[in-house]
Amino acid sequence: MRSLQVVILTGAGISAESGLGTFRDEGGLWTRYPLEEVATPQGWARDPARVLEFYDARRAQAAAAAPNAAHRALARLEAEFPGDVLIVTQNVDSLHEAAGARNVVHMHGRLDGALCAICDHRWPAPETMDPADPCPACGAPATRPDVVWFGEMPYRMDEILEALARADLFVSIGTSGEVYPAAGFVEEAATQGARTLELNLEASRGSRVFDEARQGPASELVPAWVDEMLAR
Ligand code: APR
Repeated sequence: MRSLQVVILTGAGISAESGLGTFRDEGGLWTRYPLEEVATPQGWARDPARVLEFYDARRAQAAAAAPNAAHRALARLEAEFPGDVLIVTQNVDSLHEAAGARNVVHMHGRLDGALCAICDHRWPAPETMDPADPCPACGAPATRPDVVWFGEMPYRMDEILEALARADLFVSIGTSGEVYPAAGFVEEAATQGARTLELNLEASRGSRVFDEARQGPASELVPAWVDEMLAR
């Protein structure tokens, strides 16, 4: 691949074949849990134990999951072209890293991280998280999961927007295109002149905006696409 700047956005669909649930598919997480209770600052303030129960279950599941062929293919592409490929994930699992990817932007945070609600210090999440745990940096009893809840600003947006402005190619993998700002990245990239490609199990809300949209399971579409890129 001659040096192309590639930004890849991934969503829950890339981890579905690793056994992790998506959010809006049939039987998805938001069809089983009230997101207002487990994924908002208000839910945390009302009942942190309920929120931690939700996250502890997902964290255990994510820790037991293995990356699939799609994660591995992206890690291979990144390794072949260091500095030219940026993986931006909405996922809070660490399967991209488990597959060997080294420069992953977790715009919605990570299940294996803890955050101080007072000083924004981050550290590896303890086995069991207690809101009263003192922050290792400032000592405040204000420990929370290092994940972005609805109504909160996603992480590292400046870096993401800069990468989209430089991108020659924007690829969206396994996301429904329902949640902003991630859902707007395709327009952002296209406006700046990037080609855009969607790889998803089925047509998403934004499919028709992409220059090209391929439907199928990520474990098949992504390795095939990476092979095409490596053969350029
Ligand atoms: N291969 C490829 N795509 C798949 C697969 C698969 N095996 N299985 C499901 N998909 C697709 C679905 O068709 C759907 O379009 O993945 C997408 C999953 O969509 P969502 O469940 O909405 O997940 P996502 O887009 O990642 O949600 C975005 O919403 O709730 C918030 O913070 C949460 O990061 C999440 C954000």
